[in-house]
Amino acid sequence: MKEVIGNSSVDFCKVIELDKHHHANGNLTVVENQSPIPFDIKRIYYLYDIPGGESRGGHAHRSLQQLLVAISGSFDVVLDDGTNQRRVTLNRPYQGLLIVPGIWRVLDNFSSGAVCLCIASDHYDEDDYIRDYQSFLDSRK
Ligand code: TYD
Repeated sequence: MKEVIGNSSVDFCKVIELDKHHHANGNLTVVENQSPIPFDIKRIYYLYDIPGGESRGGHAHRSLQQLLVAISGSFDVVLDDGTNQRRVTLNRPYQGLLIVPGIWRVLDNFSSGAVCLCIASDHYDEDDYIRDYQSFLDSRK
């Protein structure tokens, strides 16, 4: 079984302002490897058509780093390091929430039409997930 990388804190998760190009004919935002995110991008996926009142996430990652962006609409991310919790609202397509490894996260409060872009540091690997909250707390001891 993989170890959780680092003894991370919710304070290591931060909202990053993304490069944005405002023009009269519309806006454009760019994310590149290492800029402004601290990892190379291996995978991108997105959540959409989320029914009202539903939540997503409910797990931690052992080594995966992610940047979450509300490219449309809004949602909240509840971050939990086993000791402290923080709720972050994402509602701007030019802001991304960096989530470091070892953080339990729940995504909720999705607006109608919300799209969550997930930019990830690695390919999908179920062994990287901790899906049981008590196992997560045990991993933090
Ligand atoms: P999960 O990461 O638990 O979704 P969320 O955190 O958004 O609630 O993934 C949901 C399902 O999709 C799960 O069965 C695994 C699968 N999945 C893939 O096959 N590939 C992927 O890249 C991801 C992120 C999920």
